[in-house]
Amino acid sequence: MKEHKFEFQYDVYNDISELKKEDAELLAKARSVTKQAYAPYSNFFVGAIAKLNNGETVAGTNQENASYPVGICAERVLLGNAATLYPGTGIDTIAISYDSKEVSSNHPISPCGMCRQALLEYETRTEKPIRLILAGQEGKVYIVKTVRFLLPFAFTPDELK
Ligand code: THU
Repeated sequence: MKEHKFEFQYDVYNDISELKKEDAELLAKARSVTKQAYAPYSNFFVGAIAKLNNGETVAGTNQENASYPVGICAERVLLGNAATLYPGTGIDTIAISYDSKEVSSNHPISPCGMCRQALLEYETRTEKPIRLILAGQEGKVYIVKTVRFLLPFAFTPDELK
């Protein structure tokens, strides 16, 4: 028997003012695009902005539904938009933020399990690591270098070959 260990490194900043300019701008956009979310059931408004490797930016916000499971997260809306508007283009960085009428938005959130799976597929198919900037409307900011770190033991397209 051999024990294996999974560890990963991520960067923690005290707030947006410590980020380099380009990252701060992307996070500011993610914070503001939360206003486009449609989240009347959870009152939890998520915004995501991607900077693509071709320099374009693409947004996504969560879109809920009276039939709750029909709702879709901001990250997967963003990926659908990116793949449709700029097919085959890798994503350099995604900033993800949120706002809420019920809880305070002063710490980072990270993508749900389903979104991690979708993000990893995008990363794999474009062969470009996706950096994540995670933060609330204020407070600490996390930067993760690749989605792969967030989904150890992932099920990937390789299993189907
Ligand atoms: N949500 C996202 O859009 N992204 C996440 O990473 C976590 C959760 C949405 C789904 C739902 O509309 C609301 O936030 C509350 O779960």
